[in-house]
Amino acid sequence: MPRLTLHPSGTSFDLPAGAPLQDHLFAHGVEFPCGGKGRCRGCRVRVVTGQVPVTEDDRRVFPAHELDAGWRLSCRCTAESDLGLELAQWTASILSDDRALELPARTGTGIAIDLGSTTLVAQAIDRSTGAVLGVRTALNPQAQHGADLMTRVDFARNGGADRLRDLIRNELGRLVTEVAAMTSVPVQRITVVGNTVMHHLFCGLDILPLAFHPFEPTDDGLKTFRGSDLGWSSVAGAEVLFLPCLGGFVGSDILAGILATGLHRRDTPAALVDLGTNGEIVVGSAKGMRCASTAAGPAFEGASISCGMRAATGAVAGVEISDGALRATVLGGGAARGVCGSGLVDAVAAGLELGWVRGNGRLADPARGLPLTDVANSGVKLVQKDVRELQLAKGAIAAGISILAAQQGLAVEDLERIHLAGAFGNYINRTAAHRIGLLPFPAERVVPSGNTALLGARLALNADDPGFPEIRALCQHFALKSDPGFEDSYVDQMAFPA
Ligand code: FES
Repeated sequence: MPRLTLHPSGTSFDLPAGAPLQDHLFAHGVEFPCGGKGRCRGCRVRVVTGQVPVTEDDRRVFPAHELDAGWRLSCRCTAESDLGLELAQWTASILSDDRALELPARTGTGIAIDLGSTTLVAQAIDRSTGAVLGVRTALNPQAQHGADLMTRVDFARNGGADRLRDLIRNELGRLVTEVAAMTSVPVQRITVVGNTVMHHLFCGLDILPLAFHPFEPTDDGLKTFRGSDLGWSSVAGAEVLFLPCLGGFVGSDILAGILATGLHRRDTPAALVDLGTNGEIVVGSAKGMRCASTAAGPAFEGASISCGMRAATGAVAGVEISDGALRATVLGGGAARGVCGSGLVDAVAAGLELGWVRGNGRLADPARGLPLTDVANSGVKLVQKDVRELQLAKGAIAAGISILAAQQGLAVEDLERIHLAGAFGNYINRTAAHRIGLLPFPAERVVPSGNTALLGARLALNADDPGFPEIRALCQHFALKSDPGFEDSYVDQMAFPA
């Protein structure tokens, strides 16, 4: 029986030999916009391991270089042997914020890159006006060697570091070439931001120290290349800067987030929170900041949930109470196929209100679970383990905020503004996040702030000193586990507020 592995989620399952992929991928959030007629390219996948023959329809819709790169129409494929497939539709949810920014005027073109563990965004910017000239997004091809950071660290230290370095440099080189072609003005500076693992892999630094306690970076400084050093011939003379990390697993994505939100210039304390699998948190103001990372797990992305899926058509993305029952909002309005992160948070918040979820996380009726849709509409429900996964994720974040605030001599109530970075932060219901104790702040203090990593990378394009020594001096990295109160706080924060 062939085994199918989907990237970047890392989901694996068996299917009968010769089975049409369309029948099986739909259940995993893949949509087939033209109904599988081979006309729209919307269902395209990239074959990263295994073989899928090129069909006539593939030849009609893909240019030769995309066929060579492994792109196929999944509505035209069958599974004959084990396959690894990258799902292009995951790129649809990448935040590529193109709001206007005020930059000190420079000349020429710049390119800002957000190098995420899952997704990549490259934006071409007119450095004289700050205007966005074009954008390209893609999935991080390293995901074929592990969806999460630690799996990739393991792969790298077992001989795969060069492979991961080359994969990411080549894919970013492709995006850079495409956005550079959107302007006739030469590219002078390219800024790249990413977490500490991405920084080390891209720059070719020794990853080993990130595999073991105390997880100190080999080198967390600003790294400077020429385009030609990276094999980026279309921008051979451009200066390529990978911005510095803040320490541990807190990378330049968070440094860029501080820049974008102006946390380092505030008179009053605030926080920046990135609700990812590796949650990153900064607390403070112009008087001083502390930052930390915390392993929240993949629940917010729907990945560890029994009926979890990404925020695509068919996902329960919101849940309300109506006449004493739960009423789900399904993306696309049709039948429910699963639940995404925002639906999960809403569902548990509503379950708490109805007494169907207890404060300690136990379901009042474990056999029934927490039904989000009726059986006629797919019968999507949460089970006990799903609530536990959410408790682990929200406990890690809430404990992190509380410990960092205490380290700064603050109570969490003192934080006047909470910036939420990233896609999930944009969609989460702030009232529900408050109800489950994930963000113990009034909703009006919580500000969804978009792709702050990319915004900060844009700001760095025109910065005089892109090493940002003043921010690095102001922001002290803190290892949460070194706080004697962390474990207790984590356990406390796993409970739901009364
Ligand atoms: S669903 Fe349109 S080409 Fe496959």
